Amino acid sequence: MTKHFLSMLDMPQEEAWNVLKRAKEMKDNKVRTNLLDGKVVLMIFEKASTRTRVSFEVGIRQLGGDPVFIAAKDSQLGRSEPLEDTARVLSRYADGLVVRTFGQRKLDILAEYGTIPVINALTDEYHPCQLMSDMLTMYERTPDLRNVKVAWIGDGNNMAHSFINSAALFGFELALAIPEGYDPDQEIMEKAAALGANFKITRDPAEAAAGAHFINTDVWASMGQEEEQRIREEAFRGFIVDEALMAKAAPDVKFMHCLPAHCGEEVSAGVFESSASIVWDQAENRLHAQKAIMEWIWK
Ligand code: CP
Ligand code: NVA
Repeated sequence: MTKHFLSMLDMPQEEAWNVLKRAKEMKDNKVRTNLLDGKVVLMIFEKASTRTRVSFEVGIRQLGGDPVFIAAKDSQLGRSEPLEDTARVLSRYADGLVVRTFGQRKLDILAEYGTIPVINALTDEYHPCQLMSDMLTMYERTPDLRNVKVAWIGDGNNMAHSFINSAALFGFELALAIPEGYDPDQEIMEKAAALGANFKITRDPAEAAAGAHFINTDVWASMGQEEEQRIREEAFRGFIVDEALMAKAAPDVKFMHCLPAHCGEEVSAGVFESSASIVWDQAENRLHAQKAIMEWIWK
């Protein structure tokens, strides 16, 4: 059966742990393979990207494959050719799709109508490749993730959803401080809770940060929500990760951000540039995590 990576929950728990450990091994040993020798991976992006695009292109090459990048607006997708047809055509040329788009439903259609693996490079609902990288970044510091408390400060967005799913897989405690009206999707929360995820929502950033080992945040307006920027700035006032919030956490707390960041909004410049900030490791780990994800798919 064709394997897809549309959300973290596409990986059974044991396999997710194996991918995480393999990503660490690939990083430590600068692993290059010929697993994708002769394979072409298409990358279809409907939103901007720096990290995801480059780390996938480099990672595919380091596994011996060839990436081909398609800006959706320059293809027939931008002129409304149905996804069902696009999936069937592209499956005749290539061996996999890495897709960044809006609704998760679009990935479901590509996976359903195509015959090749589909990897989620960010949708409005999820960002699973980022989360595998974030898990690696935490795991490097604390291999027993079950003894870790993670705070999420900000929007109940694609990143928050993927953190909630990851809590189900990796067993860490997750406290999310989210302003009223911006909660994560109810169905996603119920499904993760049923799988045993240990998470709770609060309106108080200090409560979420109390004793946390890792404090995470993200922009207040995600891609596609640019026109809500002003209204969100009002709603998210007080949800900044600053020195005062970091002081509520565990003594050796680390600051995490998927990037790009807006210093002065969701994070103070002081925290972002501090020695507690591990955002560059997170960004690097995109490469290692995605190589391990691709190995999981194609091996
Ligand atoms: N974190 C992340 O996905 O970055 P890009 O938007 O640059 O790919
Ligand atoms: N939540 C952000 C993440 C960017 C990597 C967005 O979707 O724009």
